[in-house]
Amino acid sequence: MPEAYRRTLIRQISQHAHSEIVGMLPEGNWITRAPSLKRKAALLAKVQDEGGHGLYLYAAAETLGIAREELLELLLAGRQKYSSIFNYPTLTWADIGVIGWLVDGAAIMNQIPLCRCSYGPYARAMIRICKEESFHQRQGFEIMLTLCRGTPAQKAMAQDALNRWWWPVLMMFGPPDQDSQHTDTAMRWKIKRFTNDELRQKFVDATVPQGHFLGLQFPDPELKFDTETGHWAFGPIDWAEFKRVIAGDGPCNRQRMAQRRAAHAAGAWVREAALAYAEKRRARAAATMSVAAE
Ligand SMILES: [Fe+2]
Ligand SMILES: [Fe+2]
Repeated sequence: MPEAYRRTLIRQISQHAHSEIVGMLPEGNWITRAPSLKRKAALLAKVQDEGGHGLYLYAAAETLGIAREELLELLLAGRQKYSSIFNYPTLTWADIGVIGWLVDGAAIMNQIPLCRCSYGPYARAMIRICKEESFHQRQGFEIMLTLCRGTPAQKAMAQDALNRWWWPVLMMFGPPDQDSQHTDTAMRWKIKRFTNDELRQKFVDATVPQGHFLGLQFPDPELKFDTETGHWAFGPIDWAEFKRVIAGDGPCNRQRMAQRRAAHAAGAWVREAALAYAEKRRARAAATMSVAAE
């Protein structure tokens, strides 16, 4: 395997894995405040799925010859990134609807093509992840539908969440093609099959009619259907905000990393116990083997 291909995959898969586990934090914030038992059960299952996605992806990265512990250290040291979207706060229950509908929706748009990428362990992990993401997307849309068919206050809450999340979600697809450092090589190596701008456009085209079905307005005065191209045209994205958030200065970067570090420290005893148990089993198996050999 060419070294540059291996390094690119490690960077991409680990960034993806980190996004799954950091993404648990903004939603975990609402588990204790979900409005009903049904909503709580669905949200718990979703957040747990995201932890599982992290697990499959760290395992896929390990096939490239890097240990999961090392990747987690890089994340905690701030030397590897996670998706910029998880640096925004979840202020109301409607944010949980918008995250499922739009954030998981954008993730699906990005990830479906990865099910056929050139690296087998990553592609196979993505197949299962995409099935679960589509459940996440539908539960989010259903929360939005309930709010939009509810009281005027509930509808206003849904609209406010869309207003705050729409632009950061469009940024999830990464910088525009002319500024993207990694796109060309990743396309040549068949890790990526569509460019950032192509995926962003596909997402906008799929999502705008859903928002209109909900009776919501998108916070973009330039959004309009272009009959010539058959696509929804949208206004300029604030890339300065994107750069600021990526560089660590988003609304929640410090809080997310602090929570992640605290969770890592609180889980140390579990990792130590699992290692001690594995060691004991190994020693017991070795002893049985040597008795059998005598
Ligand atoms: Fe996920
Ligand atoms: Fe998800």
